[in-house]
Amino acid sequence: MTVLPLRPELRGCEPYGAPELDVPVRLNVNENPYPPSPTVIADIAAAVSEAAAGLNRYPERDLPALRAALAEYLDVESGVLLDREQIWAANGSNEVMTHVLQAFGGPGHTCLSFTPTYSMYPEYARNTFTRYVAGPRREDFTLDIDAVAATIEAERPAVVILASPNNPTGTALPQADVVAILEAARGRGPADSADGSGPCDCVVVIDEAYGEFRRPGVPSALELLTLTEADGAPRHPHLAVTRTMSKAFGMAGLRLGYLAASRELVDMLRIVRLPYHLSALSQAAALAALDHREELMSQVASLRDERDALVDWLRACGWIAHESDANFVLFGPFADREAVWRGLLERGVLIRVVGPEGYLRVCVGTPEEMERFRTALLAVTGTTTRRSGNEANHTKVNQEKNA
Ligand SMILES: Cc1ncc(COP(=O)(O)O)c(C=O)c1O
Repeated sequence: MTVLPLRPELRGCEPYGAPELDVPVRLNVNENPYPPSPTVIADIAAAVSEAAAGLNRYPERDLPALRAALAEYLDVESGVLLDREQIWAANGSNEVMTHVLQAFGGPGHTCLSFTPTYSMYPEYARNTFTRYVAGPRREDFTLDIDAVAATIEAERPAVVILASPNNPTGTALPQADVVAILEAARGRGPADSADGSGPCDCVVVIDEAYGEFRRPGVPSALELLTLTEADGAPRHPHLAVTRTMSKAFGMAGLRLGYLAASRELVDMLRIVRLPYHLSALSQAAALAALDHREELMSQVASLRDERDALVDWLRACGWIAHESDANFVLFGPFADREAVWRGLLERGVLIRVVGPEGYLRVCVGTPEEMERFRTALLAVTGTTTRRSGNEANHTKVNQEKNA
């Protein structure tokens, strides 16, 4: 047997990831179900082909064109005008977040989040030798802001990561809560500031991977980045908002995530990035895709409607379905969620076993995919629907919903 010097804390660990299964209806990793159109494909192919002609050279290291295009996109999407120096990008928001923890985490530093939440957060921390602390959410998955402030005070984290909308619950953070957390984070970071002047702020990351799916009226934390003090300094220099092209934008295969923050914070991330971390091909493809943002985002409104209809339907069937600002819904409870998951899979529908015990998460697909999901779920759980008039009235017939 080979004996290799794997880091002790990695021994026995499995690589992270949902099962990759080739089934007709894939609703398990929160992708956009609509592929790019032939026009978009042709433009991306042309841009990549042009970039390929220069592949003997390293790509642009600090991504000036791409960061400017992302800033422009955020202006259109959220009405928040930022400089390109306030934007950072990498291979998926997974890599962006790794840069954050490489820069601000590390030995002796703590990363704080609140569960249930995205299960990669502890892995970013582990991979960067950062201590990870998980506080609880309320039963409805909102955050108790007093408890969050008390935990920050007690733990003195270098980084607090909060997904909004949260994965797997779909819960968005009210802007007032984000502001309260930013205030609680001031001066309550680790006691080792670079200039020896005492405790520093902790960096608050609002992970808006699903931000574009938020309901009308739900603000983005990006808005807080435009606030300044009387002297022009940013009011929240310790705020970072992460976004991705993987979800609403429909470009999960591209691997392009980004972050918006103060220039100071972004410049600190540039210290830890590997040189040329984002290939010339990725940069070219992302720029071409951003040129088609209107078309690529055109299905977001219908996905939101489909999500809201799904919540209504699940509730009408008798399940608990959590309010969602994302493109997925957490629902249950099931006495044996694994059995329900397997039953759906046998019917060609792949969803995700994740979140609190008894619950499942389903991502919003096309209307046809959702119809297959609903039919399969009813078949697996022995629940039927009844129609009255021309309105669908879904009634749970079988009280025992377990497969
Ligand atoms: C909350 C959250 N953040 C970040 C990511 C990572 O996205 P990506 O690395 O594709 O940008 C995901 C992916 O599912 C997610 O759910």
